[in-house]
Amino acid sequence: MAAAAARLLAGQAVHPLGLGCMGMSEFYGPADEAESLATLRAARELGVQHFDTADTYGLGHNEELLGRFLRGLAPGERADLVVATKFGIVRAQGTYARRIDNSPAYIRAACEASLQRLGVERIGLYYCHRRDPQVPLAEVVGAMADLVQAGKVAALGLSEVSADSLRQAHAQHPVAAVQSEYSLWERGAEAAVLPTARELGVAFVAYSPLGRAVLTDQPPEAQTLAADDFRRALPRLQGEAGAANLQLRALLAERAAAFGQPVAALALAWLLQRQPHVLPIPGTRRQAHLRQNLAACALQLPDSLVAELDRLFAPGTVQGARYPDAGFAGVETR
Ligand SMILES: NC(=O)c1ccc[n+]([C@@H]2O[C@H](COP(=O)([O-])OP(=O)(O)OC[C@H]3O[C@@H](n4cnc5c(N)ncnc54)[C@H](OP(=O)(O)O)[C@@H]3O)[C@@H](O)[C@H]2O)c1
Repeated sequence: MAAAAARLLAGQAVHPLGLGCMGMSEFYGPADEAESLATLRAARELGVQHFDTADTYGLGHNEELLGRFLRGLAPGERADLVVATKFGIVRAQGTYARRIDNSPAYIRAACEASLQRLGVERIGLYYCHRRDPQVPLAEVVGAMADLVQAGKVAALGLSEVSADSLRQAHAQHPVAAVQSEYSLWERGAEAAVLPTARELGVAFVAYSPLGRAVLTDQPPEAQTLAADDFRRALPRLQGEAGAANLQLRALLAERAAAFGQPVAALALAWLLQRQPHVLPIPGTRRQAHLRQNLAACALQLPDSLVAELDRLFAPGTVQGARYPDAGFAGVETR
């Protein structure tokens, strides 16, 4: 029985951990499609209900993959899933650089395309992935609310928005979830977005909860990553910052070894013990990692260990920016 109880998402009690599907299509090196599909199925069998994707992951490939997985489930197995996807990041094939589009016409077209690729009649949770400052937030939320009205979307989300934007949007139409980067490795959300979400009764979906694999037993090393692995350009893995951050990670690994758990399980348990409205979505392409991550739900970290991790990874301790410059397009919380 999981120590971490079910959490509320889009009006439903769901397994506390979701599955981030992005790496099954791009950003973290090559993926084996058969293993990705087996991981999706294993997640479902192990009780995971929340699956996170976006139209930009593999430029549609990730939604199509999820669509194939969903089509393989019996109707009863699909009924209690929350499949979340996102719109707003526009990229050309093979490029990381992006522009952001929040125009209502774009939102309507993106929603239709996502419905098609996922093979569903309604998107469980539809996020604005990034904010386009050229389009007033009220117009964006209005266009998203129209999709709810039309029955194409069940619940709305916003990603990487400021606390003010979250508050403004929620006053116009209920926002089910805000998605931001959050882990020991990145604690910026604690300043405003995390408490604001709690105050408003909005779920806080923590993305990259494993610090893009830094907070695991297999941390990435910038020089040995595949040529198209985006972490090659991650400032936090470069030069002096990278060396300092990996030393910090080694301290976490020591604590995990002393506690008798993999690093990933410790990092996720810390996150689950933060606040009850936090829903982490660790990303993995592999069943073995999935099982290791889900084991975090059964852990209860002693208060002394939580306090030690808080201190070791105090906000500002990790060095370097959390994205390359191009990755900050449309991010309201740097
Ligand atoms: N809203 C946004 O802007 C945004 C941005 C980024 C991500 N996301 C979402 O958040 C999800 C999770 O974030 P993320 O994938 O960026 O980062 P993450 O969950 O912090 O880390 C994923 C990385 O960790 C590795 N990993 C996972 N479990 C492991 C384990 N137990 N042991 C060793 N390595 C392990 C994965 O490799 P393997 O595949 O080999 O396990 C992958 O390289 C994404 O899939 C995506 O859905 C959203």
